[in-house]
Formats: sequence, structure tokens, C-alpha cells
Amino acid sequence: VEDGEIITTPFSYVATTSSILWEGAAPVFVDIDAESLCINPEKIEEAITDKTTAILAVHVYGNICNIERIKEIAQKHDLKVIYDAAHAFGVELNGKTVLSEGDITMCSFHATKVFHTIEGGALIAKDEVVDEKIDNMKRFGHYGDNHITLGINAKASEFQAAMGLANLDYVKENIEKRKHISELYDSLLTAKVEKQKLAEGIKYNYSYYPVIFGSEKTLMNVIKTLENDEVYARRYFYPSLNKIKYIPADRKASCPVSEDIAKRIICLPLYVDIEEDRVRDICNIVNSVVDS
Ligand SMILES: Cc1ncc(COP(=O)(O)O)c(C=O)c1O
Repeated sequence: VEDGEIITTPFSYVATTSSILWEGAAPVFVDIDAESLCINPEKIEEAITDKTTAILAVHVYGNICNIERIKEIAQKHDLKVIYDAAHAFGVELNGKTVLSEGDITMCSFHATKVFHTIEGGALIAKDEVVDEKIDNMKRFGHYGDNHITLGINAKASEFQAAMGLANLDYVKENIEKRKHISELYDSLLTAKVEKQKLAEGIKYNYSYYPVIFGSEKTLMNVIKTLENDEVYARRYFYPSLNKIKYIPADRKASCPVSEDIAKRIICLPLYVDIEEDRVRDICNIVNSVVDS
């Protein structure tokens, strides 16, 4: 990986890019598709060089990337595919979990996610050798007295495991509740906003409720007005990652779609116990600010 280039999306949480830099590799940003908000596969090939080793794509807000097209490109150029599926627990495409796609898929179990262990996550690897290597690396790289590889302490604790086991029983019910809240937003949000277009054949997990406003000015007005009512909507994701100051200057490729959407998007509050009246209040505020 070191010295290699990894093609990735600028429209994600910073961890997607920082994991590339942390490993000493270079991120090569490829712009997103304005509808799916995932990496635009039609722009990947032109970013491939003889240093490219992998494509790191994100299932943004749980929406599914164009997996088939990415697989085709990766096979043609002999590249690895890594999916950041931090948002995609429980998501399926045509009846099959999306977590088994690519050479490795990463999933987040952070407390804000649909399924969580407070902190933590999972790596799902296709290749058994890679799988074993990851398993060793997370346990200081040794098995008994046999020191196999360089490792760190990245184990889940017993407490996290117990939290995960307890939460597993509620995942289905929680996704149903999230679906209900999302549909309530759909019916009450009459303001002119754009929405992410979900992939065909997706079984969605309703992990987020992103809305895209006509301008950053409207977005700032919405955030301020919601804050006056003690509602804290999240600018997620902002800024577009190609704009972050510690990205090497020669890696700051322009990504106009991502930069534009990052300025205009927020995720409205969506959690299982939100009261319907709260959702109504939020929609009233958004409708009145946008239409004013
Ligand atoms: C797209 C994406 N990737 C990676 C992460 C990092 O996950 P974790 O907090 O489990 O390390 C997040 C966290 O929100 C995320 O949204």
C-alpha cells in the first residue's frame, strides 16, 4: 500500500480519507454522482495510474454504490476493492447483504449507527489469508507464543460484545421504527429540497435522513432556526474531503459535485425514540425557512 494510490470519494466522513493517509498511501479523489451521492464509477478509470492499488468506495448513508461497475473496473485494472459500509448494516441488494461485497468491507458499530457496540466495527474479508492476517493484527500479532505479524490492540472488549449481542435483538424493530420516522418526514416535508436517490433493488436501513437545500445560505438559515428550537441537525458531510487542509496540495483534485452538495446537505434528526411531534416541529421549521 505504501506509496500507492487509492481511488476514493471526497463525499464521506473524514475517517475514509484519513485511513488512507495513515497507511502512507495517497488518496486520489474521484467525484460523486449527484443522485446516488456515491463515487461516480464513470470517472474512476481516468484517475487510474500505474501506482493505483485499490478503490475505496463508500455506501453513502447506506445507499449502495454501483457495485457491478466498480467490480468490472477493478478486474480490468487488477485493483482491490474496499467498501466503507459504516452506514450500511442491514442493507441488502436484491436480497443479498451488501456487507459481503469487495475484497474487504468495513462496517462501523459506533453508538450512532443502526447496530452498535458503543464503539467498534467489523472487517469482512473475502480471502481467508487476509481474514487471518486481520485477525492476528488486532490481537498484537501473535497467537500464544507464535509471533506472526506486527499487530496492535484492536480487540473488542467483552463489554462491547455483550452490548452488541443485546442490540442484535432490536435491529429489525429499530429499522422498522426508523422507516416509520423517515416516511413521516417524507409526508410532512413539503419544502422544495432534493433527496438522495436510492439504488434499485435496495432494502434500505433508514440510517439517515439527508436533505439537500437550494443554497448554502438556506442551509445555514435552517440550521440556525432549528438551533433556536434546540434541534441540532448535522452538517454531514462537510466539507468535501478534497478540501481538507492536510490533504497534500497535489491531491486536492477539484470535485465540483461533491463540493457543491457538501455545502447544501444536512441530516435531519433520525433516531428510534424521536417523538412524532418533534418531527412535525422540525418539518414546520424547515418548510417555513425554505419557503420564506
Ligand atoms: C462513512 C464513515 N466511515 C467511517 C466512519 C468511522 O467509523 P468508526 O467511528 O466506527 O471508526 C464513519 C463514522 O461515522 C463514517 O460515517
